[in-house]
Amino acid sequence: MARSSIRVGLLVLSSYIALFMLFQATPALAAKKNLFKTCESTPFCRRNREFADAASCVSPSSWAPPYAVDPSTVSFESGLLQGTILKTAPNSETPVEFLFQLVFLESGSVRFTVDEKQRMQATALPGFPDNLTQRRYNEASKWAVVGDLTPDTSASESSTAEEQADGLYKVKYGPEKQFEAVLDCKTLRIEFFRDGEAHVVLNDRRLLNMDHWQEKPAPAQPKEEGVEEGAEESEASASAAVPKGFPDASEWTDNFGGFTDKKPKGPEAVALDITFPGYEHLFGIPEHADKFSLRETRGGEGNHDQPYRLYNVDIFEYEVNSPMAMYGAIPFMQAHRKSSSVGVFWANGADTWIDITKPEVAENAFNARRSTETHWISESGILDVYVMLGPSAGSVYKQYGALTGYTALPPIYALGYHQCRWNYNSEDDVLEVDAGFDEHEIPYDVIWLDIEYTEGKKYFTWWKSMFPTPEKMMQTLAKRKRKLVTIIDPHIKKETGYKVYENMSKNELAIKTSDGKEYNGWCWPGESAWIDTLNPKAVDYWKDQFKLGKFCGSESNLLIWNDMNEPSVFNGPEVSAPRDTIHFGNFEHRDVHNIYGMTFVNATVQALQARQPRQRPFVLTRSFYSGSQRLGAVWTGDNAAKWEYLQVALPMILSHGVAGFGFVGADVGGFFGNPTTELLTRWYQAGAFYPFFRGHAHIESKRREPWLFGEPYTSYLRNAIRMRYQLLPSLYTAFHRASFEGMPVVRPMFLMAPENEEALGIDDQFFFGETGLLVKPIVEEGKVETDIYLPDSQVYYDYFDQTVYQGVGYHHMDAPLEKIPILARGGHILVRRDRYRRSSSLMSHDPLTLVIHLDKDGSAAGVLYMDDGETTAFSRGAYLYRFFMFSAEDNILRSRNMLPPNQISKSYDKTIDAVRIERIVVVGFDTAQLKKSGVVESFQDRKSWPTEIEVTEAAGGKASVVVVRDPKVLVTGDWSIQF
Ligand SMILES: *[C@@H]1O[C@H](CO)[C@@H](O)[C@H](O)[C@H]1NC(C)=O
Ligand SMILES: *[C@@H]1O[C@H](CO)[C@@H](O)[C@H](O)[C@H]1NC(C)=O
Ligand SMILES: *[C@@H]1O[C@H](CO)[C@@H](O)[C@H](O)[C@H]1NC(C)=O
Repeated sequence: MARSSIRVGLLVLSSYIALFMLFQATPALAAKKNLFKTCESTPFCRRNREFADAASCVSPSSWAPPYAVDPSTVSFESGLLQGTILKTAPNSETPVEFLFQLVFLESGSVRFTVDEKQRMQATALPGFPDNLTQRRYNEASKWAVVGDLTPDTSASESSTAEEQADGLYKVKYGPEKQFEAVLDCKTLRIEFFRDGEAHVVLNDRRLLNMDHWQEKPAPAQPKEEGVEEGAEESEASASAAVPKGFPDASEWTDNFGGFTDKKPKGPEAVALDITFPGYEHLFGIPEHADKFSLRETRGGEGNHDQPYRLYNVDIFEYEVNSPMAMYGAIPFMQAHRKSSSVGVFWANGADTWIDITKPEVAENAFNARRSTETHWISESGILDVYVMLGPSAGSVYKQYGALTGYTALPPIYALGYHQCRWNYNSEDDVLEVDAGFDEHEIPYDVIWLDIEYTEGKKYFTWWKSMFPTPEKMMQTLAKRKRKLVTIIDPHIKKETGYKVYENMSKNELAIKTSDGKEYNGWCWPGESAWIDTLNPKAVDYWKDQFKLGKFCGSESNLLIWNDMNEPSVFNGPEVSAPRDTIHFGNFEHRDVHNIYGMTFVNATVQALQARQPRQRPFVLTRSFYSGSQRLGAVWTGDNAAKWEYLQVALPMILSHGVAGFGFVGADVGGFFGNPTTELLTRWYQAGAFYPFFRGHAHIESKRREPWLFGEPYTSYLRNAIRMRYQLLPSLYTAFHRASFEGMPVVRPMFLMAPENEEALGIDDQFFFGETGLLVKPIVEEGKVETDIYLPDSQVYYDYFDQTVYQGVGYHHMDAPLEKIPILARGGHILVRRDRYRRSSSLMSHDPLTLVIHLDKDGSAAGVLYMDDGETTAFSRGAYLYRFFMFSAEDNILRSRNMLPPNQISKSYDKTIDAVRIERIVVVGFDTAQLKKSGVVESFQDRKSWPTEIEVTEAAGGKASVVVVRDPKVLVTGDWSIQF
């Protein structure tokens, strides 16, 4: 949900807002560009870009930036290399001191921090505003990182005394000491080696640049009279007074779009370049509506000319193929090349810009190779960057997850289909839509209410005339084990008598202005204040509001949607809070801007946990940061019912996934506008494979519940949604893997074929979880065929008709409107529940079907994770975890327990001990090898019995299919079946 040009009465808003709303009604890109900053209109970005340009103009050996390590200060002890960086600054007689640390962590990552010494001390700096915290903001890691940050004492120095005398410090670290970090004090370069090769280099181009605290200097004066020079030259000498990379006096305030940012701490930007030698492909740093493989950003054909920006903003009707900032920010980037992956995490919550270039670098007289150079520029905070050396993509995700946590295992209903619209207008409306699903035999789990359910956009209230008995409505939904999600945002209506506001205001729990008053701005309810969830007292207050007895009309099947938490402020700079507003701890909003939205979701999650401690919470958020994956789901915000938004959804989902945020989806159908039936069909077919699967529509869009378009469309949409429900056991298993290894649910080609460099740029197809299903949704109008790329030489089968495909490269497939192009990769076993039920919870005791696609050697394997799907009992061992293997050696399919040996709890098994495997489908079996025709032998509990089979022989390019019906084996048992 976001904004409307009509619904919010223009009359009540100021003329500025009226103008603003007009922009929204006409999505003029130019207007949007004026509303949001560019690097040129952001002084600290422009200045650091110029610094980079100046560096690239001279030979590396003659580039002399003002930073150097003082070698006499460097020490290494117990996994920690530290020392002092000296910065030569104009106006300062002695160099400004910065302290750096390289911390070698047990998880195999290295943390590099740089902080400004004078701001770390307790004594007040002359001129520093005494009502702000003096230290640079250093808590991005505190919010993002949950992993152990204590140094790994087994890391060891590997430099010789001679090398150290020469200013070279080397440390071996990581698993089996296979990684090495090398700091060169002379250049301040830090290289990270694996297998004798540098994979990541910090400060390679020597663009490290950190502003230091100083009182506002007098504006640079033109040269004195007497030296008669042209006006041009005197301007040149005026800027020469401030060396490249240093801020001039104009940076002590900022005026953008008619807003004044007082910048009481002056400029405090932090910048560093990071090179990935030999890597051409970078991924991650969501959120951008762009290709999965990140583009260059310094112009040229097909490139951007703006850096990728991370600054959480409410960018309604966002542009596609753009590096512009969006709703969320994860400053994690992965580089991948043939069989090698590395990652970096830039722990900073301020406005951040990232330039990417991919120059060819000469290796020697004969060879050049491409490298990727990145330049990270943030407005404030300390320098805090983590380096992960892989070596595989999976190990990078694991290392990043070991820092920032893994995707929380969602309740299984959250993986079902969600039906949303701005708005379902009344209880009757909700219950009619609910009944519509049953009438058309379409499963769904959750119906959603957008802002209109409230009284005057006051959260924790109901619009009584439309929702007189919300409890009864929720109880009706609960009969089919369905849920209700309502929206609750961080803006709280400023209204006398509205207790949620009054108490928050009285106790000073809202974000404050730079003068220490409550900050007020405009949002949906009109004038509002924003709860400051960085404040633990505000979190307690927030939790209190959700208590079952206090939140009137709420039942135990009510869950929450947190929107507008960037935060979105209609009359604020860049549609957000002014950067000089103040949060708990006397930190400015600029320091925590990208983190704020996550703290708000965290408070909501804590509130749901407090009200129902046994239940897993479900909260959807629009704004996010590194670590938000621990809290719930995210969607890609306000897209439009146009083909290009369907196209860009998948690259966006892939980007989220590699950046640790597996539980992500795009609004199916497109939020703004009205999809054609073809677009809607294709969107459901793609959406059925999004980790988060929700249909949503704008208040001005026509109704589009999945049965409203008649046949054949109702069947097409029903088929897509039912397929999702069939695959839930496997999807849930993929989420389980994400929850302890960080493996994305929707997977890019390189996860299956890491050595295939040709496939690195492919972002219109993906592997779905553990299933081996290679899905290529149709995302172009009128298209009824496609070319699907096989990234390896494994055998693939058409999922629906078993046609065999093999050979690296593109293969042609028909894709009429009713068909989703899906190939099943040989070697995988997926688990389905094929019976239609009205919701996922009603399926929890249904029998299972195993679908086995044999690899080219005749084997396959797969895992199944199951638990009660709703409670936290799984965290105490109440789950089932099984391994299925079909071995070509003896043609036996086996089911084995995979619970860790120390785990004795089988409490969950008891609740499902009657759940059967009702069908086994084997694709690609050499039927000549069947032991007895028409029968297989099943074994469980030392008993054996014959089971009948059906065989469809291979023919006409299609693989054979062997179906075993009701082999009478249980999902909880160890058994085997002889073919
Ligand atoms: C506001 O504070 C009063 C008095 O402490 C309390 O009784 C009431 O429940 C609070 N209301 C809310 C909405 O927190
Ligand atoms: C903080 O200090 C600035 C000047 O340094 C002043 O303008 C502002 O009003 C002060 N705010 C508070 C809450 O005292
Ligand atoms: C939420 O915030 C609390 C308090 O800062 C923190 O302890 C907790 O780990 C956070 N929860 C998650 C899931 O990140």
